[in-house]
Amino acid sequence: MTNKKKASSNPYFEMPQIGNSAPKFTAETTRGEINFPDDYQGKWVLFFSHPADFTPVCTSEFMAAASMYDQFAAANCALVGLSCDTIRSHVEWLQRIKDNVEYKGMKNVEVKFPLVADWRKEVASLYGMIQPNENEVHAVRAVFIIDPDGVVRLMSYYPNNIGRNMDELYRALIAMQTAKNFDVYIPANWQPGDDVIDPSASAKAARDQENKIPKGTTDHDWFFWTKKLSKRRVLKAIETL
Ligand code: BEZ
Repeated sequence: MTNKKKASSNPYFEMPQIGNSAPKFTAETTRGEINFPDDYQGKWVLFFSHPADFTPVCTSEFMAAASMYDQFAAANCALVGLSCDTIRSHVEWLQRIKDNVEYKGMKNVEVKFPLVADWRKEVASLYGMIQPNENEVHAVRAVFIIDPDGVVRLMSYYPNNIGRNMDELYRALIAMQTAKNFDVYIPANWQPGDDVIDPSASAKAARDQENKIPKGTTDHDWFFWTKKLSKRRVLKAIETL
């Protein structure tokens, strides 16, 4: 026997999917009304929810995200936050963070990106953010990375008691941009400058036919080979996005 509710009994349960268009919405934010994702055509977007304003884990996440605002912007990526609080609560919380909170060397942190005031839970319901067995009333820590065509490319959901790693979300963004720019796959723990995977069969074919592999390619096994891609080329391609 379990006392967990079934997902089907959750009136807020809809889930975006990787490869589908991001669900559209219009909402009030701390930076005015937004039409999502239409206002962000041509940009990547990191759209993330948090459970509630004036809570500690959320505060640490917002400070971390806001501190990386310029870094994301340089990679053509906008940030958009959401919780099921009111505009007034959002504005007061963000002002309080700027005026009072010092954490891990971050202080006087200004949140320059919009924070959706989804007090009716309309957007949260579209994006599967209300997961009642984790929290009856607040959004979980959902993340969506949406590409310049408005398509969902990455999703993650974290529980309320665990803060996300903004460096990892930035790495995933750069990885997705690099995969697209160079038509490659990205291996585990990749950082710009590390080898990437060539999804074409050329290395394997060369190995089979001539018993040699192209220069710059490392053959780990018949099903796994990597090739060099310099950090300079990765970053130059991102600068020109
Ligand atoms: C927090 O941000 O600290 C938090 C919010 C909701 C539940 C648990 C923790």
